Amino acid sequence: MNLEKQFICTAKGETQGQSIWQAPSNIALVKYWGKFGDQYPKNASLSFTLTHSHTTTRVEFSPKKATEKVSYDFRFEGASAPQFHPKLDAFFARILPYVPLLAGHHLQIASKNSFPHSSGIASSASAMAALALCIMDIEAAVNPSISPAYFFQKASFLARLGSGSAARSVAGPLVYWGEHSDYACSSNLFGLPLDEVHPDFKTYQDTILLVDRGHKKVSSTLGHQLMEGHPFATARFEQAQQNMARLKGVINTGALDDFVDLVETEALSLHAMMLSSSPNFILMKPHTLSIIEAIRDFRNTTKIPLCFTLDAGANVHLLYPAQAKDKVAPFIASALVPFCENGAYIDDCVGQGAKKM
Ligand code: PMV
Repeated sequence: MNLEKQFICTAKGETQGQSIWQAPSNIALVKYWGKFGDQYPKNASLSFTLTHSHTTTRVEFSPKKATEKVSYDFRFEGASAPQFHPKLDAFFARILPYVPLLAGHHLQIASKNSFPHSSGIASSASAMAALALCIMDIEAAVNPSISPAYFFQKASFLARLGSGSAARSVAGPLVYWGEHSDYACSSNLFGLPLDEVHPDFKTYQDTILLVDRGHKKVSSTLGHQLMEGHPFATARFEQAQQNMARLKGVINTGALDDFVDLVETEALSLHAMMLSSSPNFILMKPHTLSIIEAIRDFRNTTKIPLCFTLDAGANVHLLYPAQAKDKVAPFIASALVPFCENGAYIDDCVGQGAKKM
């Protein structure tokens, strides 16, 4: 709890008002898979912040008699959504020691996503980041002396307590999270924006090919747990730390061939951990592999440095430089869309982070 102490709000008081934040999703280039303690990552990770895939959350807050638990109502896309309550209850229980004044307020929360529900895109990162930012507005209303730097760092810290990868959904265009000697001030507690980014990576494209819009069969909570006692866990965490070191130079210099190699290795290593855990699970679908093959063929033929990455699901993120957009678009339409469920995909790109609305 020592390092965490800086994030305990000691200010007391009541406030009333509303806050609206839009927070983006992110896609990890070096993956976080395996955690310990209070949502600390077993290895450092680095992600692109996205632009168009985001969650918008409004929190209306008003004083009430203090209670032990945070009191809230939650609506998702206009309807009550009790299926999210267990995750929200766990989040509020974890963050209450850091924002005790929440106990004396009632929160009316309304949230919506820009991407279709059950598109297979994880929304916990953008959702937890947007909610954490609204909560920081409540803290700032009671304690206006907090600095912008503290505001955003604590928002990332709180978001992490909801979903690890949410720590990387506050800032942009690239965010690192988790201790690593090559990354300045890196912390297991919160994410930080990467400073030295080659211009190519500030406008990188991410076309998300929706292979399977069904719900994930394995939660990331279970996936992280299965890394405990996994026979390859130690080697995997070391590999990720090494890839973080290599990727830092690549992002700085714009070495796209190395980028392709690193990012695809990371995606396949993540899935290799799932394939070899006990119990094991296969989240890729036949069309995931068809898309990967088509991407590799196209890259070999055209020498355009496009590559894929994967989340904990079947969808494929196609990453490529903005300058290649005109050549990649017809390839997506003719060779990749046929493998997407109902031809669905999302054109996204690297973004700047959360926005106050
Ligand atoms: O934030 P969580 O607990 O849902 O875990 C996210 C894990 C991956 O998305 C697979 C990888 C990552 O680093 O985002």
